[in-house]
Amino acid sequence: MITRRQILANTGQLCLLGAFTPTHLRAQITLMQRAIPKTGEYLPVIGLGTYRTFNVGDDPNELNPLQRVLELFFRHGGTVVDSSPAYGPSEAAFGYLAERINLPDDLFVATKVRAGSHAEGIRQMDASAQKMGVENIDLMQVHSLADWKTQLPILKERKAQGIYRYIGITASRVELYDDFITIMNNEPLDFIQINYSVAERQAEERILPLAMDRGIAVFVNRPFVAGALFSHVQSKALPDWATEFDCDSWGQFFLKFVLSHPAVTVALQATSNPQHLLDNLSAGQGLLPNTELRQRMVDLIGLTGRPPWT
Ligand SMILES: NC(=O)c1ccc[n+]([C@@H]2O[C@H](COP(=O)([O-])OP(=O)(O)OC[C@H]3O[C@@H](n4cnc5c(N)ncnc54)[C@H](OP(=O)(O)O)[C@@H]3O)[C@@H](O)[C@H]2O)c1
Repeated sequence: MITRRQILANTGQLCLLGAFTPTHLRAQITLMQRAIPKTGEYLPVIGLGTYRTFNVGDDPNELNPLQRVLELFFRHGGTVVDSSPAYGPSEAAFGYLAERINLPDDLFVATKVRAGSHAEGIRQMDASAQKMGVENIDLMQVHSLADWKTQLPILKERKAQGIYRYIGITASRVELYDDFITIMNNEPLDFIQINYSVAERQAEERILPLAMDRGIAVFVNRPFVAGALFSHVQSKALPDWATEFDCDSWGQFFLKFVLSHPAVTVALQATSNPQHLLDNLSAGQGLLPNTELRQRMVDLIGLTGRPPWT
């Protein structure tokens, strides 16, 4: 007779149920929460990005691990999911999977508009809610400032109509920072989304302090520089002093660096791997590095400027 254990082993799920999983990954994770400055609503500090990782077709071999990622994310208290129509079929993949699993009551869906005209923006925003299978998008963002002079007024109007609870802008390239800052200073934004990591720290100079001054919530994208940080530390051992901030993996190291900046509300990590997801979620609990430890982290990683680092 084939046992449940054998079936799980064959489908690669056994380790997820505990047999080969480190203790800290088996326990229920309790994520820290941070308030959105404008409203005081709390969000768990680890969010789930969908760029590339959810860019899949209808192949069950690709969708099954993603379903597992979503189930685990929600089971351990995650609520924030971030997507964009510019991420290929990612919004639709989320919508497809969301129908098959239990969603949290406090699911927080963020997506973006990346359009070239008023009509296209409207079409895209309406399609996003439909593709993601949700009645309402919680946060609508102008993606990489694309056509922002046309798109941001639509967001403001829709927020006033109660269609979106929050609005914001995103960037992941330094070239956009000057315009980004001008918009932060002049528009009624609830959120910004910006690239920030132990290696890409340019947002520390002006953007993160300004977000604190103006009471704007911060989503961080590219906390692992799209995975490049893992390649960088491939042959490096995690330092002993990482235990001083409850860290026992590189994934936690990178995320705890991001979360220890006082401006940051949520770190958006992306993964298609359930084990990585559990590891990353663990970064959302326990101690965070202080200023001195943050500097040691920067020195240890030793990357400055922009990728690719050569
Ligand atoms: N608005 C913008 O302009 C913009 C730009 C970029 C990103 N974003 C948003 O931010 C999210 C995150 O950024 P990102 O997708 O660029 O990159 P990221 O989260 O920095 O890195 C993702 C990569 O890291 C790997 N990874 C994750 N956890 C790991 C772990 N514990 N151990 C080893 N490898 C691990 C993933 O591979 P596995 O799948 O194998 O785990 C994946 O290749 C995006 O999904 C998107 O929602 C927004």
